[in-house]
Amino acid sequence: MKIISVVGARPNFMKVAPILSAIKKHNVQVSEGKGKSIKSIIDHFLVHTGQHYDHMMSGAFFNDLDLPKPDSFLGIGSGSHAYQTAEIMKKFEEIIESKKPDVVIVVGDVNSTVACAMAASKVFYDSNGSRPLIAHVEAGLRSFDRSMPEEINRIVTDHISDLLFVTEESGINNLKKEGIQSDKIHFVGNTMIDALLASQKKAEESTILKRLGLVVETRSVDQNSIIPYALLTLHRPSNVDKIDNLLSILEALEEFKTQFTVVFPVHPRTKKRIEEFGLNHRFTSHSLDSLTENSGAEGSVNGIRLIDPLGYLDFLCLMKRARIVLTDSGGIQEETTCLGVPCVTIRENTERPVTVTNGTNVLAGLTKEKIVNAIDYQLNRRLEKQIPKLWDGGAAVRIVEIMVQKVAGR
Ligand code: UD1
Repeated sequence: MKIISVVGARPNFMKVAPILSAIKKHNVQVSEGKGKSIKSIIDHFLVHTGQHYDHMMSGAFFNDLDLPKPDSFLGIGSGSHAYQTAEIMKKFEEIIESKKPDVVIVVGDVNSTVACAMAASKVFYDSNGSRPLIAHVEAGLRSFDRSMPEEINRIVTDHISDLLFVTEESGINNLKKEGIQSDKIHFVGNTMIDALLASQKKAEESTILKRLGLVVETRSVDQNSIIPYALLTLHRPSNVDKIDNLLSILEALEEFKTQFTVVFPVHPRTKKRIEEFGLNHRFTSHSLDSLTENSGAEGSVNGIRLIDPLGYLDFLCLMKRARIVLTDSGGIQEETTCLGVPCVTIRENTERPVTVTNGTNVLAGLTKEKIVNAIDYQLNRRLEKQIPKLWDGGAAVRIVEIMVQKVAGR
């Protein structure tokens, strides 16, 4: 059986990596004759659309997650949503037609996700109209905010997919309410959490805390302490494209400058806006290359420290040790819940409600006052770590088993 998986943008890589290792394991079991049909051996083909292309937004993740080199790189690059979607569709259609996969796997909610799902939904292999099954990993999430391009991508992708792999129970309800047949919906858990659990040990070896001067060395290594820091990520147009919103966030953080320093690995879009708005003076900037291990004094710098985007393992390490995480990302809300680290989401809504009801996340909204209140609440709250159902590291294995059964039953 043939499967094509698609990656395109930074948050895709950690969702696909566990599926690739589950496929490898499956193939080993088939070749060892462990009760699996030889027909189910999976011939896998990895496509990278090139939506993200900077080394630190893409290549670094291949190293950290042990992902193989893509079999095909579409080199789409940046552009408007219509441009990205259309160009990916044109190029991906050619790949489907030449490879004729049984299944196309798309993950998450980025433009690459919807573009490849749409291309796959309109291909016909023969006069009977047969086409690949479309599997959407992370189906059913809804922010109910259609001004977010990701919400449009989620809705369209879900409605043209054949296998909807859901990460949290809210996803099942959302899909049923939208009239999606129950037999297409599979609650399997979260492959992003599979990746986190599989990478935790390696992330412990990261030297990022030392390179940022956040470790206070004592004579006994065991007693080394970490300077309290908040980890900040921002990239949503609603937060970074409007100077007033960006300023609200910076001013809110200034209120806490005696309590923690802020580490801010900056997304290329956000970096551009900071430069355009003339806000550089509000940050201390470090190029990571200039920081060596034990460049200690840097750690005493208070305020907001702008650094280059980080690789997966360095980011996991920083997230795990943070006093608090502030973000507008979707995935980080889930990762902090799994790590038991308090998270403030600088948005009005979330498509991942389980991170608020069971996890460590609160929604702040966008005004300075609300952000200050949310940080205060999180710093003073006693967190009880509760891991959402099926976030146990086994999602990718479940996904592969279901795909194999569905293809066999066609
Ligand atoms: C995309 C996803 C978003 C996801 C985010 C993670 C969509 C609609 N949005 O947003 O859901 O949370 O990725 O980062 O798909 N750029 C570079 N180098 C790169 C990539 C981007 O410089 O490697 C710059 C370009 O100027 C580009 C801008 O960043 O115009 C935005 O990139 P784009 O892929 O359009 O969307 P993101 O904001 O990254």
